[in-house]
Amino acid sequence: MQKIIGLAVLIAIPVVGSVLSAQSGQSANGQALVQTERPDWAYGIPSGPRPPRPADNGTLFSLPDTDRTFTATQIRGRSPADWYPGDHPTPMPDIVANGRTAEEGAVVRACALCHYPNGQGRPENASVAGLPVSYFIQQMDDFRNDLRNSSEPRKNNARTMTQIAKNMTDEEIAAAAEYFGAQPWRPWVRVVETDTVFKSYTLGGIYLPVDCEIDKFTECEDSATTSDTEPIGLRIIETPENIEHAEIHRNPRSGWIAYVPVGAIEKGKALAEAGQCSVCHGPGLKGLGPLPGIAGRTASYLMRALYDMQQGTREGLWSDLMKPVLADLSTEEMLYLVAYAASLDPQ
Ligand code: HEC
Ligand code: HEC
Repeated sequence: MQKIIGLAVLIAIPVVGSVLSAQSGQSANGQALVQTERPDWAYGIPSGPRPPRPADNGTLFSLPDTDRTFTATQIRGRSPADWYPGDHPTPMPDIVANGRTAEEGAVVRACALCHYPNGQGRPENASVAGLPVSYFIQQMDDFRNDLRNSSEPRKNNARTMTQIAKNMTDEEIAAAAEYFGAQPWRPWVRVVETDTVFKSYTLGGIYLPVDCEIDKFTECEDSATTSDTEPIGLRIIETPENIEHAEIHRNPRSGWIAYVPVGAIEKGKALAEAGQCSVCHGPGLKGLGPLPGIAGRTASYLMRALYDMQQGTREGLWSDLMKPVLADLSTEEMLYLVAYAASLDPQ
């Protein structure tokens, strides 16, 4: 094992070093590497207007193993609910915990809202815990320089992320990168192979059972128990383990299920070996030096990353390293790769 790690490091360093230094300034490409079918499932675009959330009637919500309580408005407020302060370093940097309002300057939504205080994030945005600091900062620069865009123009939260990066100072970016980078990436996704999956709709990029509308989140069944199903086809459907915890409380300890086609994990494993993903992403795909781990991250995030890079809408300073990897991959193969990566233990 030691030998393999040594070898991977030896191979990876010259590759990373030479390509990174060979690039100067902008990677002016913007061209799709190959025309592949868009994996709509990964973008979770809603079919209609977003239904309103039930009005906040002042109910104080609580969760196990914490004495904190929050109203629905506080949970999603300027300083979003921090249910478990013991789970992360304290204090949180101000920009992570509170963001910045228009009265104070350029608006920044608190990172903790979308990425959670522990950086675990959600399938519709991204996980940021345990990312190498230099990778994190590079991504923020790519957002700022309009080099990291979604290939799906209706993916509004990706645009919000770009604006957030543009409105941040270098010091704030460094503080957020150090804060999230210091946290372990914890297991977050349970990958389940299946031929059929619950009939779903999307809300804010998350798949939910059709019979579980927004005003029923406290009482409806979770996807695993719903009986109204359809063939999964070539899709991955990501949904909360517990709808109430994920969608009402935004509980940063409540993980996700990724339903994937039968056989996807095995096929993905073979493709990952052929594509030598571990040479750069490290043994077990847990990350290597400045390169991000992809083990155990949500499948739809990973798919959007691959597809956006393949289409050239994500063309950051380091994205060229992924180009040869992506050049020959079909949408179906990318689906298998991300099902496999999501199934790996990140620790
Ligand atoms: C409104 C929700 C939202 C907020 C608030 C938010 N982000 Fe994001 N963030 C996103 C989305 C969506 C993505 C994924 C974009 C994409 O698809 O490329 C993302 C991606 C990222 C990534 C890239 C992760 C990777 O693996 O490449 C970093 C880093 C990041 N955000 C940092 C931050 C920081 C720092 C803050 C707080 C100042 C913040 N975000 C606030 C939605 C948000
Ligand atoms: C030659 C090195 C190299 C190889 C081999 C490689 N990658 Fe990457 N990968 C990178 C780099 C560098 C980045 C960061 C790209 C950027 O910053 O835009 C990356 C980013 C990614 C991301 C996005 C991560 C994030 O947090 O957004 C995914 C997903 C990914 N790679 C998957 C794979 C898979 C799957 C394979 C194998 C089929 C693979 N990579 C092989 C270098 C590599």
